[in-house]
Amino acid sequence: MLIKRPEPIAPSEITPESVYQARRRFLALGAAGAGALLLPRLAGAATLPPVGAFGTLPSQALAGGEALTPLDSITSYCNFYELGTGKSDPARNAESLRTSPWRVRIGGEVARPGDYTLEDILQPHTLEERIYRLRCVEAWSMVVPWVGFPLADLLKRFEPTSRAKYVAFTTLYDPEQMPGQRRSVLEWPYREGLRIDEAMHPLTLLAVGLYGQTLPKQNGAPLRLVVPWKYGFKSIKSIVAIDLVESQPTTTWNQMQSSEYGFYANVNPAVDHPRWSQARERRIGEFFKRDTLAFNGYAEQVAGLYRGMDLRRQF
Ligand code: MTE
Repeated sequence: MLIKRPEPIAPSEITPESVYQARRRFLALGAAGAGALLLPRLAGAATLPPVGAFGTLPSQALAGGEALTPLDSITSYCNFYELGTGKSDPARNAESLRTSPWRVRIGGEVARPGDYTLEDILQPHTLEERIYRLRCVEAWSMVVPWVGFPLADLLKRFEPTSRAKYVAFTTLYDPEQMPGQRRSVLEWPYREGLRIDEAMHPLTLLAVGLYGQTLPKQNGAPLRLVVPWKYGFKSIKSIVAIDLVESQPTTTWNQMQSSEYGFYANVNPAVDHPRWSQARERRIGEFFKRDTLAFNGYAEQVAGLYRGMDLRRQF
């Protein structure tokens, strides 16, 4: 079993009652088949074949019992360059992003490529709440109660071929909906990638909500990645394409400045960003900095993925 189980904390002890109740309702809907998120089926969209039972894990607190970052901090202090480069821009500009209807193209080295509705993507999955730390490269961090399901459960449905060595993710490109894309601050669309074993790791989540609510647009609605042991830029938002590929895909920040942003981007206090230290971080809402943990505190679960690699060179 790869998942460590710290002392359980009742969500009611750490969460305001109203949010806790809202979360219970959301999770109940999720268990009934992501009912809250169902969208009308689009004409011409591919349909997935029926699937077998998915392994589900109970909700777990993977943040070592640390206090959750308040909901309003998570939703008002964001990085989402398509909606502006300032931390408060995404919340202010989120309205123009249309998250329904939404489609996700699955392609590359899979037996069942196609253009799927969000409904197809979500339908068979039982949503879980997972409390993960999010550590950004600028040395701030949060503790977020995500709602989602393991990416592995989704990828297996498309039957990856033996040539699928990496997974490439792409964000929506539409400057009309995403005002930040009218400027060339990054090479659009935003792209990210994982090695296949990282993508299949049970900690890697596709999130559709947080704090028991549907994911706010500024946090990457309707579907985003969460890779808790990597710097936040790997957790790509508002995903419209997932491709299984044979060679390491191009990723936005690596393309922008490869000396500063590696492909792996594992949280590593021993390897500094060329312009600043990565040894300490400031938890949003706290005054004093704290030591950053190797792999963001998930070393026990994920360090084995990198055995034999020089993490100073492959950062
Ligand atoms: N995804 C897209 N499409 N565009 C972005 O600019 N920023 C990344 C990541 N995903 C980003 C993105 C960065 S740098 C971080 S730290 C996290 O989103 C922040 O997630 P949050 O705003 O939900 O905290």
